[in-house]
Amino acid sequence: MKILRVKDYREMSRTAANIISAQVILKPECVLGLATGSSPEGTYRQLVEWYGKGDLDFSRVTTVNLDEYKGLTADHEQSYARFMHRHLFDHVNVDPARTFLPDGSEPDSERACADYDAVIERVGGVDLQLLGLGRNGHIGFNEPDSAFAPRTHCVRLTASTIEANRRFFERAEDVPREAYTMGIGTILRAKKILVVVSGEDKAEALRAVCRGPVTPSMPGSILQFHPDVTIVADEAALSRL
Ligand code: GLP
Repeated sequence: MKILRVKDYREMSRTAANIISAQVILKPECVLGLATGSSPEGTYRQLVEWYGKGDLDFSRVTTVNLDEYKGLTADHEQSYARFMHRHLFDHVNVDPARTFLPDGSEPDSERACADYDAVIERVGGVDLQLLGLGRNGHIGFNEPDSAFAPRTHCVRLTASTIEANRRFFERAEDVPREAYTMGIGTILRAKKILVVVSGEDKAEALRAVCRGPVTPSMPGSILQFHPDVTIVADEAALSRL
């Protein structure tokens, strides 16, 4: 794992956006694996800015997102589909027909997950996967578990994740309890992985992910076994390393 130490969230975002830009420039028809959450927001903001200056072209890029809440339609204000439109898709020239997320409105989990695995296979796998890190070490929505999930699956969100996402919903009971997420196996098949981590509240998870044992109870720890992982983390997030 390569760890790039940066000063703060702003520098983390610029560094990550630089790495994604390099990918898009070197392989304009690449497949980007994208993430949601507050960690990558600044990265998207920076990409949008550089696109606006004419430095980037997303017209041949395909995107596959990590996860989506089960039970939210794509146009729900808090769906990850809306998040992606708000922060990136609506501001760059990516072809909407080539942006993919799991279908949260599909009530049949098996179908939703099989369909999404088929999409990932059809696009030929992920060139660069962007990841945030949950406070409990989750990646995508792969929560701490007794085994690593190979493929897209439906997860019950843990109390800690529901609590962390509470701020986006009006009432606690509005936070979805389940989500569809790419499996750890799929994440590991990405050619390159880029992790953005910021803030003191991630410091313990980041320490465990980088230095702890590889275990499904700390899902991000599996990244130690991937040959090409870059972690861009700020000083607060690295404070326990
Ligand atoms: C959510 C997402 C993850 C994300 C995590 C951390 O649970 N499913 O992909 O990494 O939150 O979010 P944040 O970046 O807001 O701390």
